[in-house]
Amino acid sequence: MSEEKQSLEERAHNRTQRPKSDAFRSFIGEDWGARPAGPQRAAAADYLPARHYKLGSHFIGERLVFPAGDLQVRSNDTDYRFRAHSAFAHLTGLGGEDEPGAVLVLEPRAAENCTDEATHDATLYFHPRASRSSEEFYADSRHGEFWVGARLSAEEMSTLTGLRVAHIDSLRDALAKDLGEISIRVMPRSDVSIESLVEQLRQENGLLSDATEMNEQLAETASELRLIKDEFEISEIQKAIDVTHSGFDNIVASFPRARTHWRGERVVEGAFFAKAREEGNGLGYDTIAAAANHANTLHWIKNDGPLVDGTLMLIDAGAEVDSLYTADITRTLPVSGKFSPTQRKVYEAVLEACNYALEVASQPGVRFRDVHTAAMSVIARHLEEWGILPVSAEESLKPENQHHRRWMPHGTSHHLGLDVHDCAQAKRELYQDAVLEEGMVFTIEPGLYFREDDLKVPEEFRGIGVRIEDDVVITANGAIRLSERIPRTIEDVEAWMARLTK
Ligand code: GLY
Ligand code: MN
Ligand code: MN
Repeated sequence: MSEEKQSLEERAHNRTQRPKSDAFRSFIGEDWGARPAGPQRAAAADYLPARHYKLGSHFIGERLVFPAGDLQVRSNDTDYRFRAHSAFAHLTGLGGEDEPGAVLVLEPRAAENCTDEATHDATLYFHPRASRSSEEFYADSRHGEFWVGARLSAEEMSTLTGLRVAHIDSLRDALAKDLGEISIRVMPRSDVSIESLVEQLRQENGLLSDATEMNEQLAETASELRLIKDEFEISEIQKAIDVTHSGFDNIVASFPRARTHWRGERVVEGAFFAKAREEGNGLGYDTIAAAANHANTLHWIKNDGPLVDGTLMLIDAGAEVDSLYTADITRTLPVSGKFSPTQRKVYEAVLEACNYALEVASQPGVRFRDVHTAAMSVIARHLEEWGILPVSAEESLKPENQHHRRWMPHGTSHHLGLDVHDCAQAKRELYQDAVLEEGMVFTIEPGLYFREDDLKVPEEFRGIGVRIEDDVVITANGAIRLSERIPRTIEDVEAWMARLTK
């Protein structure tokens, strides 16, 4: 007798024997107690109408679609932990692992109904929880309560976000409605299936304009919207920095064990990760735990080396809090607790670049790019003093030269927020060329990297890599380091290590 041929998808269920009887179905749906109270309104909810207006006013009369994104396969039927697209998080206030597959739609108001506060009406399309007598309850490993816990009901989601909500199954009709008369844009690189759905609807409804360019304009505007942070965002970034501080304390405390472990860098990485998960949502980006010469590989995330006594260790780490805002901090620590004279010389030069960049960022009328110029002037001067530059610092700093960049090839600053490199789609004139404004949050992170095999530097410098990175907010009183409590002067770093490794 030949067996019925199973599809590969069906074969995934060969490992289980799910009961299918009516008796089972009715029995599992019975006698469940009352549910606990749903969530309160989120603090972010009050900020959403202003964000929607600020964005919507650039796209009057157009339907705007912001997918959260979907689960991504890690291996076979195991997915990565979900993390929403940042534009979706910003416009819904949702964080944590909410809400794979959801879509925010900003529906355009008729011209006569637009006001100075609203040009669009927001609806959040998502998959609300099903009843406990449904098959979904026990059989759907993606949405079912028995598998992933109780999802929010439509009413609860509306309370949490302050938004109108609708079932995800009604999304297609909502997107298609009156298309042709009104146009539609979707956030690019957010969710392939929603992006294709929008493209298909555009074609079916005779919208022939250049969709790619329209969608990219939406991404650009949504990115530029985040250049100035509101007070809620600044307080969330501060929380992320505070968790990161506690993660760095844990790193310092882990040093005695890390120094004896064959892969001490992993011990350090794990020490930070523990705090990021305990007190936050997780990491804003993969931790760089770079001992000795590994510090000279800018994105060293393999973290599989030992800590070597007498060398430095560069750690670049940031915790992301539940609202998905992240910190981005680098500290460079002496493995044995004390800096050597050469390490001290390099460290002091980088620290001076940090301080001068901060001072310049505090001056009125300064542009974003001037912060980098300030840091580079200090770096080039020290390289000249040490006899490393082949030309004078002044010559090197000219755009046509730039020899000093051999030892600091990355930028000094980037905006920081929901993304570690926030506002990345903003136009150059609003980013590098922009005058600094109150509410901007960015990093200051100069460094010096002397690779072990760098024959252009004296031997004593080789293998030393130093970066010091702080997170800064522009206020009415100038630039303030939000991360000022995380030790960074030589004296403070040595005292910190002595205190936590006793
Ligand atoms: N952690 C990435 C950066 O510093 O930009
Ligand atoms: Mn950074
Ligand atoms: Mn960093």
